[in-house]
Amino acid sequence: MNDVLYFNGRFTTTAERVLGVEDRGFQFGDALYEVFKFSGRKAIFLADHYRRLERGLAEVEIRSPWDESRFFAVMRELIERTAFDDGIVYIQISRGEAERKHFFPENLEPTVVAYSRAFQFPDAAKKENGIRLITAPDLRWKRCDVKSVNLLANALSKKKAQRAGADEVLLVDDGIVREGGSSNFFVVRDGEVITHPLDEHILPGVVRGRAIGLAEQAGIRIDQRPIAVDELIEIDEAFITSTTMGVMPVSAIDGHVIGTGVRGAVTSRLQRLLDADEVADAAVTQASSAV
Ligand code: PDD
Repeated sequence: MNDVLYFNGRFTTTAERVLGVEDRGFQFGDALYEVFKFSGRKAIFLADHYRRLERGLAEVEIRSPWDESRFFAVMRELIERTAFDDGIVYIQISRGEAERKHFFPENLEPTVVAYSRAFQFPDAAKKENGIRLITAPDLRWKRCDVKSVNLLANALSKKKAQRAGADEVLLVDDGIVREGGSSNFFVVRDGEVITHPLDEHILPGVVRGRAIGLAEQAGIRIDQRPIAVDELIEIDEAFITSTTMGVMPVSAIDGHVIGTGVRGAVTSRLQRLLDADEVADAAVTQASSAV
């Protein structure tokens, strides 16, 4: 497979067991993560991922281990050392390793892990046929805007979806659809694209941000407002966004078919715009990190 692992400043492979048992990421979930995509050995939306990670680290008072140019250099070298062309990089930064106590020491040296994995991104058929969703209660904590590794509620809810024959779960809180178990959620109604506003209930998804920008540029109306679960029977199209799924149409929610059950025109247009945006962004990232 030739996965490559970056661990605290050196390169090794995922075969090496590197983490201490008193790492706070392992014991307290005291860590943040990122997942970015690379395609043809080019990182996609890397600056967006860096900005979200830095903001999150500041929010939870974990020391950042790098500035932007060091981050880009490490990620470039990681991809260069990797044996395959397309995949994802998982990055995790924990507060560090210390004797197990809830009170964390100030200024602990963070534990930094990043590794590449081959990944099968959705093909044309999958991007056309879309996925099925179920709804489930949102059991997560109140800081979903930081990408913390505390994913137990997400994992249990996604498993429920899988057992029900669906691909993703929609997390519902107070009658409001927040987001997917590992994706952001959008609906299209009368030509307008609607998605949950940025707040503590959702992750500020990189692809979410890109899709909104692309829609605005294309003159598609966008409304960032809460979507009531009762509204789902009235929508024309739905899609989710994420690094691994891109813009992915939703064909049914809780067994209820969305629109005509086939990919809608707005979803399909945003898919094409995102594909082009990925290519354009990869070229810019590649050029700027060459200097
Ligand atoms: N998940 N919301 C949640 C809860 C997520 O876990 C993710 C991504 C997103 C979409 O964010 P982005 O567009 O930046 O990928 C929204 C990643 C892919 C994961 O956990 O594997």
